[in-house]
Amino acid sequence: MDIAPLTRNPYGDFVGNVTGIDLTKTMTDRQVAAIEAGMDRFAVLIFHGQHFDDDTQLAFSRNFGELEISSGGEMSKPEDRRLKLEMADISNLDRDNKPRAADDRVRLNALGNRLWHSDASFRAIPAKYSLLSARVVPGAGGNTEFADMRAAHDALDDRTKAEIEPLVTEHSNAYSRETIGFPKEDYGQRNQDKLRPVRQSLVRIHPVTGRKSLYLSAHIGTIVGWPVPEARAFIRDLMEHATQPQFVHAHVWRPWDLAIWDNRTTMHRARRYDDLHEVRDMRRSTIRGDAVTAPQQQAA
Ligand code: OGA
Ligand code: MN
Repeated sequence: MDIAPLTRNPYGDFVGNVTGIDLTKTMTDRQVAAIEAGMDRFAVLIFHGQHFDDDTQLAFSRNFGELEISSGGEMSKPEDRRLKLEMADISNLDRDNKPRAADDRVRLNALGNRLWHSDASFRAIPAKYSLLSARVVPGAGGNTEFADMRAAHDALDDRTKAEIEPLVTEHSNAYSRETIGFPKEDYGQRNQDKLRPVRQSLVRIHPVTGRKSLYLSAHIGTIVGWPVPEARAFIRDLMEHATQPQFVHAHVWRPWDLAIWDNRTTMHRARRYDDLHEVRDMRRSTIRGDAVTAPQQQAA
């Protein structure tokens, strides 16, 4: 296995291109350790030509920890679901493998992925890795962009670094949904518990490398102890800073690519494509995190 940097910037490695390994085969401990070391060094790894089906993708994913059930999966009705619960359906398809209609609720929900985010940042213990496998890709568009939040942190001036270090943010799916225009009351009553804000440190320290990173996501609604408008304006400034071109890499998908990213040190977003007419079938497995980033508020 060999890893070559795909990104060239003065802030260190970010996206690595991995060759010489077939991930559909059973991994040895040494191979798993080499991939984890690559993840710690780069934060995003790209593998080409990985002919996964759902079972081999899930088996490979389990090498890195326990699987997480995505919120989309949890909230979906079984009759709307195309894939098993452990597999987040990042496609534009319905159960008959037809592109969803313009006003399809599942489609509209999925548009939230177009906002810069870190997966499951609305959970008290947010996700570690996400593994996204491209099965069918559209002829144009539909890239995924990644932002290096270690580099974004390091590039801040010292005064801002000191200011943000102790800050704690509140994340909820309700905020990102509000941003793309879903009315607040629109989320089914049975899903109210999934909207309760959780607290996250604005600056995270990677458990292996010790590097600091900015922890931002579309799910942030406020900063604890700040007036909401002031918090949102500041978060917007930080988002703008963190997503400047020098921190961003766009991945142009080919069928059978696998991307693994570390949600603790990166953000990502989906880019537009003609989803009413073209097919994009991507499947995501997600590895649970193992710790909160900030003490949680006691339930009222
Ligand atoms: C995801 C996601 C972006 C994309 O799978 O978590 O945000 O480009 N995907 O589909
Ligand atoms: Mn995502």
